[in-house]
Amino acid sequence: MRVLVTGGAGFMGSHFVKYLLKNYPDYKVVNFDKLTYAGNPDNLKEVEKNPNYVFVKGDICDAGVLEKAIKDNKIEAIVNYAAETHVDRSIMDPTVFLRTDIFGVYNLLEAVRKFGLKKMVQISTDEVFGSAREGSFTEDSPFAPNSPYASSKAGGDHLCRSYWVTYQTPAVVTHSCNFYGSNQFPEKVIPLFITNLLEGKKAPLYGDGQNVREWIHTSDHCAAVDAVLHQAEAGAVYNIGSGDEIKNIELVEKILKIMGLGKTMIEYVKDRPGHDRRYSINHKKISQELGWKPKMSFDEGLKATIDWYRANEWWWKKLKSGEYLEYYKKQYSV
Ligand code: NAD
Ligand code: TYD
Repeated sequence: MRVLVTGGAGFMGSHFVKYLLKNYPDYKVVNFDKLTYAGNPDNLKEVEKNPNYVFVKGDICDAGVLEKAIKDNKIEAIVNYAAETHVDRSIMDPTVFLRTDIFGVYNLLEAVRKFGLKKMVQISTDEVFGSAREGSFTEDSPFAPNSPYASSKAGGDHLCRSYWVTYQTPAVVTHSCNFYGSNQFPEKVIPLFITNLLEGKKAPLYGDGQNVREWIHTSDHCAAVDAVLHQAEAGAVYNIGSGDEIKNIELVEKILKIMGLGKTMIEYVKDRPGHDRRYSINHKKISQELGWKPKMSFDEGLKATIDWYRANEWWWKKLKSGEYLEYYKKQYSV
């Protein structure tokens, strides 16, 4: 198969590019990425020279460049990881979120339709469902997004549905819980806490620390998207979850324990506006229909992630300077 992975230089997209090249040695994998602050060629060093790997620098909002990449490489399927992804940035400035996460998805769907591609997998989030008071979100839960990020992702997901219903464009949408693992940009909570602590700084915990997130390791998420890409029916929707629901205060305490540090390294900071209290995903459908199950335990995955950041300062130190520092200062008013 010839697959276009959009956003393949980011955190999860780069894991999926590497996963495909390793597990499907006869596939051609084209990574189409704008290289925003979150896109990082360092994530792909180990596959740069792989003859089945091609990198194209491009914006999914630019139909001309996108169509050329599809035509030149005779693409059969698209997996869309390209997005603006950080809730706090979306609160500071939603514009680019609306552009990439809605208009960009529209462009991809138009290209899938125009070139008659076999499938497009839209990687989306549990955040489109809003905050879970009780129980877990199923694929049929109503959308109730609470941040500009979540609402722009919801817009992209609605477009996928409408293109399937109206034009039979073969889009499949996944709603995932929070990802964690190596190569995650250090603005997201797990790498932010780990790298701050490695630098001798405190872990900034929002509000009362009682918010709950469900966490899935990169390896499990790649396997789930593999199942969706190869087995899902066009028009389907799948939740991807792990069942590992953890309060933020428990998360930071686990990190401190593994790193041998005390609770004095927690700094309670002002809460995020509109902060969703809890996310929780019911992933029965993907297990029953596609035979996928999560394998990595959270404690094992978290330890491996901490070990990775400890051993790879070269990767994250440079990301925490320049533009990032400006962002960090604004975010935490330091
Ligand atoms: P990320 O922020 O690490 O990377 C996003 C990538 O997309 C970057 O390489 C960036 O350069 C690229 N990109 C951004 N705008 C682009 C554009 N206009 N054209 C082309 N490329 C562009 O993202 P991530 O955290 O790995 O998330 C990947 C996907 O998974 C996103 O769609 C996100 O909504 C979804 N998701 C993320 C999580 C999570 O916990 N991180 C959870 C559920 C779903
Ligand atoms: P984040 O990694 O931004 O993911 P999302 O908001 O998409 O779930 O945040 C995860 C949780 O951690 C969320 O409840 C907000 C909280 N958080 C902090 O407590 N401190 C921080 O500095 C950040 C970035 C997040």
